[in-house]
Amino acid sequence: CGIVGYTGFQDAYDIVINGLRRLEYRGYDSAGIVLEDGNNKLEVEKTKGKVDDLVKISEGLKGTSKIGMGHTRWATHGVPSDRNSHPHLSNNNKIALVHNGIIENYDTIKTMLTEKGFTFKSETDTEVLVNLIQYFMDLNSETDFPTAVRYALNEVYGAYAITVMHEDFPGVLVVGRLGSPLAIGIGEKEYFIASDASPFVEFTKEAIYLEEGHMATISLENGVDIRTINDNSKIKPEIQELKLSLEQIEKGGYEHFMLKEIFEQPKSVHDTMRGRLLVDEGVIKMAGIWDHIEKFKNANRIIIIACGTSWHAGLIGEYLIEEYARIPVEVEYASEFRYRNPIITDKDVVIAISQSGETADTMAALKLAKEKGAFIYGICNVVDSSIARITDAGSYTHAGPEIGVASTKAFTAQLTILTLIAFKLGKHNGNLGNADFMSLIAELDAIPKRIEDVLASTNELVQDIAKDFVSTTNFLYLGRGYNYPAALEGALKLKEISYIHAEGYPAAEMKHGPIALIDENMPIVIIAPKKGHYDKIVSNVQEIKARKGKIIAVVNKGDTQVSAMADYVIEIPETSECFSPIVASVPLQLLAYYIAVYRGANVDQPRNLAKSVTVE
Ligand code: G6P
Repeated sequence: CGIVGYTGFQDAYDIVINGLRRLEYRGYDSAGIVLEDGNNKLEVEKTKGKVDDLVKISEGLKGTSKIGMGHTRWATHGVPSDRNSHPHLSNNNKIALVHNGIIENYDTIKTMLTEKGFTFKSETDTEVLVNLIQYFMDLNSETDFPTAVRYALNEVYGAYAITVMHEDFPGVLVVGRLGSPLAIGIGEKEYFIASDASPFVEFTKEAIYLEEGHMATISLENGVDIRTINDNSKIKPEIQELKLSLEQIEKGGYEHFMLKEIFEQPKSVHDTMRGRLLVDEGVIKMAGIWDHIEKFKNANRIIIIACGTSWHAGLIGEYLIEEYARIPVEVEYASEFRYRNPIITDKDVVIAISQSGETADTMAALKLAKEKGAFIYGICNVVDSSIARITDAGSYTHAGPEIGVASTKAFTAQLTILTLIAFKLGKHNGNLGNADFMSLIAELDAIPKRIEDVLASTNELVQDIAKDFVSTTNFLYLGRGYNYPAALEGALKLKEISYIHAEGYPAAEMKHGPIALIDENMPIVIIAPKKGHYDKIVSNVQEIKARKGKIIAVVNKGDTQVSAMADYVIEIPETSECFSPIVASVPLQLLAYYIAVYRGANVDQPRNLAKSVTVE
């Protein structure tokens, strides 16, 4: 979910609505706004649907207030509906609250409040919290609003970022955070609140990122007063300079963020290597690794934990690190890892990969690994995100903000970091000889150019191919070695945004099951570059051909054998096998994109998904 708040001299309606649009990637199944009107009354509008639907019912509020807040939701407790949308009001209609996260013990609190006579209009955990605040204020008339919020937060378990307003405390916004992010933008005579800095980047470059377990009371009169939630200790605000620019979070002429981000990959991969890959000097500089090189050197094994696309990057990381650094690697879904009592010791290095740095499952798995004494390392894209903060060390991907819900440039940036780590560790521990190291890093340095070439040579072709698959209901993606995870990722992209069922498989496993699905209606995307078990793939393609499957082959320029059997051929430049997932992913991203566009799907905001999933 996304939260926006504002107090200052501008129209709060515009700031909140525009801010919500920027945060829609965080969830978009319902939206709401609350403003304090001229008589200090709270005016609430909320609805199921997107921010555009909210605007239709709330435009009357434009120009009426200089303080307010809003919410865009990704449903956890309770279906998307008008009633379950935020803001939620307390029983006395005086307190309004917006929430991102989950209150795990809401049921117990709800029972307690129901016994005291409170009633509930929604199925949400959030409505319980807002009533708990009212409860503490009712209990003792001396308890002021921020104190009541603090008391309430001390009673809840779970994860939250909240913003609260109270009719009897005009001009005041109270915020709190545990687990979910919250930034406070500091302007001249105005303050902004948001789940990330994008809603206020054009107004101020100064922000405070609220820390875990902190809350703040914000007003024009008294500024920002930060306290710890557990014992009300005063905290000195740490103001940071934002590096984000408006340009980075706008579409820049592209129809969708996803397409823009696909096309940004030559630059984002380059940015990931900037300052790290020094080809002329023959070194890879990575402070996060170097400062803890003993940990890596002495590691019994490396465990990579992640979710979704980041997990696919992790699988490729396993191939990379095992091949070049010869350190055993295991890759696990964060959600499985944490609940199966994993064996972890202080000889383990645990690497979490996360674009957002916020994913609740990944975060929880990391905490567990840390408790068990492992050295924990983060590969995140969002600077200063929760995962980046709790890890012992890490490397940012520096791909820039990724807004399309389906991850593209963050994925190739993650692969780039993992490649750098594998080469660096391999060079250091002697498993990667100098000559090989030098030739690999020279090749890596040229990867942005390779991506640029692929974009230029395949974009129109893939667009044409996509037209033939608009009504398809199933897809199979196959690859071997490094390109097996690339096949998984290709399939995930397609299903996420086009809602076509797609499965990725190791090509050789096809004969143990999926082959039963193959007939003339089944398209099979097969990633078959020259380097990487090509001959074996040729046999797999023959098996498909014999069953009349439709073959879309991703092959190297000049390929003859697979191309001769394929119905559609997409050419990518030849690289060492370890780089081929980066290059092969680009046309697969385009294929998913164009099929989804032709099907009329909302590619940037696919149904039921959210970019960062801050609930378990
Ligand atoms: C969500 C997103 C995916 C992403 C996954 C992990 O499901 O829709 O695109 O891969 O979360 O997110 P993370 O931010 O941890 O990489």
